[in-house]
Amino acid sequence: MDKRFYITTAIDYVNGQPHLGHAYEKIIADVITRARRSLGQETFFLTGLDEHGQKVQQAALAEGRDPQGYCDDLAAVWVAFAKKLELTNDDFVRTTQPRHKQVVQAILSRLHAQGHFYKAIYRGFYSTKEETFLTEKDRRPDGTFDPSYGEVIELEEENYYFNLKDHQQWLLDYLEQNPSFVHPESRRNEVIGLLKNNVLEDLCITRPVSRLNWGIPVPFDPGYVTYVWFDALVNYVSIPAAHADPAVSAAIDSGLRTQDSGLSLWPADLHVIGKDILKFHAVFWPIMLKAMGLPLPRQILVHGWWQKDGQKMSKTTGNVVDPLAVISEWGVDAFRFYVLRELDIGPDGNWTDAGFRARYDAELANGLGNLVNRSLSMLKRYRNGDVPSRSDELAAASEAAVAATRSSLERNQLQAALTAIWSLVTRANQYVDHTAPFKLAKDPAKAVRLDEVLYNLAELCRVLAVLLWPLVPGTASKIYSQLGLNSTPDKFSDAQWGRLQTGPSIGSIAALFPKKP
Ligand code: MSP
Repeated sequence: MDKRFYITTAIDYVNGQPHLGHAYEKIIADVITRARRSLGQETFFLTGLDEHGQKVQQAALAEGRDPQGYCDDLAAVWVAFAKKLELTNDDFVRTTQPRHKQVVQAILSRLHAQGHFYKAIYRGFYSTKEETFLTEKDRRPDGTFDPSYGEVIELEEENYYFNLKDHQQWLLDYLEQNPSFVHPESRRNEVIGLLKNNVLEDLCITRPVSRLNWGIPVPFDPGYVTYVWFDALVNYVSIPAAHADPAVSAAIDSGLRTQDSGLSLWPADLHVIGKDILKFHAVFWPIMLKAMGLPLPRQILVHGWWQKDGQKMSKTTGNVVDPLAVISEWGVDAFRFYVLRELDIGPDGNWTDAGFRARYDAELANGLGNLVNRSLSMLKRYRNGDVPSRSDELAAASEAAVAATRSSLERNQLQAALTAIWSLVTRANQYVDHTAPFKLAKDPAKAVRLDEVLYNLAELCRVLAVLLWPLVPGTASKIYSQLGLNSTPDKFSDAQWGRLQTGPSIGSIAALFPKKP
């Protein structure tokens, strides 16, 4: 059984509506997925929702709802959101699903039986908002805690702890020996620094039912539910278990009745996450996997955070970008394009409406849109939509861009892929200006030259569709159908120059990115 490329996103807390940050991460994962598939690699893409814990329970309570009903209603909104973004995920996990809960409980039982947990009393500070215990080290110089922790209470509580300390040196060695485990390098250095300069605190993996009951019951002690992060991280293996993945099934006897789907997924190839949850993924998760006897994911890819107009996005101040509003006004591909083009995977970014508008006008409407529109309109007007015989004037430029795009996509460098594609768009627009086919058309003696130019432009549009497919799939499909091709531009090998057949080839032409006043 061949292993598939297995890619995941963080699963979002279902305590409100999706925003730009959630959308950005899912689009990154979708583009990587589509690129792999286009390059011929079978790929499994998992995304979903994190439904337990205090944040969700409080959000439900604030609306006077029971948590499950509240989650069910919001889950429908998030699933619809994934469709709007045109995500091609293979499964959608909800942590309240029995298939997930059963695996979490099986893992807890097994790790407990193997002695990875101990019970202890904790006295100290606790942030309810972040669901985390705080220590003296978390205080600011003036003695207060950062407002991002919300209300901080004093607590005395008995809980189960997962021994992390014993694995600290092993993890540090692993990170040092596997330079690509955390990407980009600055984030890897952050984790290495954390492991070198601190003694890891053991991880509290339970919450007493008396304080929080919206969680997965701990199988060996009815007084507790599972800490939401222990629950959530397990989604990356519970869904493979539900699909009868051989590696996970061999390590965890979950008792799930699965149908052998022939899928081999674990280890994950890529966990795509935001910078704020790096420690959970690069410290806690590897140690959990080691305890379970499972291999580690191949890479954790860490993206930065978006601000709007230079400020943190916040529901309370109303400073948010609503992806659905942008999509309904400008189209999903304009949204996908902007977030990928504006922000490389790694640094933080800043959304401004003016910046969005500027890229829409220059790169989408005047760049790509204008190129495709004038190329196909001229083919229709001057040759009645018949593709002339092959000409290779733009072949070298095209092949160079195809190679650069391929290598960027293979390295998950999505912004670089767009830059490579747009260099070809610019080159082709210059070609139109230099060859001036509208002038050639007026002179019957220049008919052969006009044929050459029209072939090069039509073929270049076709190649662009193939390159664009992972990034802006709707636009890629439109280019194909405007060319009268009834297949989908989803195979990268079709970007080879010269595949456009001579003969009738035109559909109905319309602006890809209409200009707006
Ligand atoms: N539920 C946890 C993740 C569990 S994964 C096993 C969580 N959820 S979240 O809804 O708060 O965040 C989900 C993802 O969205 C995270 O990767 C986070 O970094 C990302 N983003 C949330 N706000 C963001 C921005 N403003 N910008 C970019 N990404 C951001 O954490």
